[in-house]
Amino acid sequence: VIDIAKLYAQTGMFTYDPGFTSTASCESKITYIDGDEGILLYRGYPIEQLAEHGDFLETCYLLLFGELPTASQKADFDRRVTNHTMIHEQMSRFFQGFRRDAHPMAVMVGSVGALSAFYHDSTDISDPYQRLVASIRMIAKMPTLAAMAYKYTVGQPFVYPTNALDYSSNFMKMCFAVPCEEYKANPVMARAMDRIFILHADHEQNASTSTVRLAGSSGANPFACIAAGIACLWGPAHGGANEAALKMLAEIGSVDRIPEYVKRAKDKNDPFRLMGFGHRVYKNYDPRAKIMQKTCHEVLAEVGHGDDPLLQVAIELERIALSDEYFIEKKLYPNIDFYSGITLKAMGFPTSMFTVLFAVARTVGWIAQWKEMIEDPQQKIGRPRQLYTGATRRDYVPLSTRK
Ligand code: ACO
Repeated sequence: VIDIAKLYAQTGMFTYDPGFTSTASCESKITYIDGDEGILLYRGYPIEQLAEHGDFLETCYLLLFGELPTASQKADFDRRVTNHTMIHEQMSRFFQGFRRDAHPMAVMVGSVGALSAFYHDSTDISDPYQRLVASIRMIAKMPTLAAMAYKYTVGQPFVYPTNALDYSSNFMKMCFAVPCEEYKANPVMARAMDRIFILHADHEQNASTSTVRLAGSSGANPFACIAAGIACLWGPAHGGANEAALKMLAEIGSVDRIPEYVKRAKDKNDPFRLMGFGHRVYKNYDPRAKIMQKTCHEVLAEVGHGDDPLLQVAIELERIALSDEYFIEKKLYPNIDFYSGITLKAMGFPTSMFTVLFAVARTVGWIAQWKEMIEDPQQKIGRPRQLYTGATRRDYVPLSTRK
């Protein structure tokens, strides 16, 4: 690792690294990824163990505080989060200002940014207690806002949080309950939701997390920073890939058409890529994809879609691609998005909500990274350099003489 800041101070030299493929922007103790080995650790704990044995709020505690909670710490944390699940009542009227057909991510960017206008105490980032309250508020209110964004776009009344339920069951209830019917969250679905939240909770310095850190480095309040992260996540190259993977599986449609698509993916003259394959960091199996695959099977079995043609296409496509020279040589493995789209669809979510669910899960990662940055004594405002390629100095030409 080269300390470029030191090199710059000594020589005036700086690096040119578009896409930040080889530049670390910070030190962090939160998440470790070994892309070659396919390892993902939150605070040292393997993602497989957390997803198998833990729950999402426990993961939130771990990411925020660095250790797994004791039973009493966990009970206290759960209670604090549930205390903050409601949003200011006036915010529900704020939603009425959006067009009915607004994309729920547009509603999320606006409504999360608007939290700064409702919780002034949490905008004082110099107070460690207020930073903690802001963090808990964000984790608690995101499912409520996400469910409201969904309900608004489908024209149904908002469902208020039920604090007796666990985090994921409460979220499913706020999304799917309707006043005319009794609602009970299906435990298989609620567990799948919780797992999806754990798998997406943090992924070190990805584009949206870097956006949150950069916004936060200027001292902007946490709600504004998270709104910036949501805006970045909205892009199809980041949070939107599971939707693209699902569309591709539907387009392939049947197992016998797979070879045609694999052939296209390998053709240098065809821009088509197999969606849900490959990753900037993982050059091995994405460990989250394996857990997602298992969760996908459980959900489809529960809803009676075990023989869903999309799943058959996915399994066969995975089998063919993993034994194909092209994919082996380029180290292209299925990523988390490959199975998450099918799973979320089977759980009843429309595709427009997929990225919103990702944002609900990633909020804890964003806020933990934001807190770590603010509490770092080395913290400076983020200010990348550029390689200027424009015109050299030239003199102003009056409009009347310009050609
Ligand atoms: N299908 C076919 N070929 C591919 C694929 C793919 N899905 N992904 C990469 N390749 C090939 C490229 O054509 C390139 O070939 P070349 O060396 O002959 O030029 C080589 O593999 C390397 O590809 P890059 O785009 O340079 O690799 P990078 O690490 O920058 O890209 C990315 C990673 C963007 C994820 C890419 O694999 C991709 O486009 N995948 C499909 C989209 C997708 O699933 N995105 C989700 C990412 S996970 C997430 O955001 C949570």
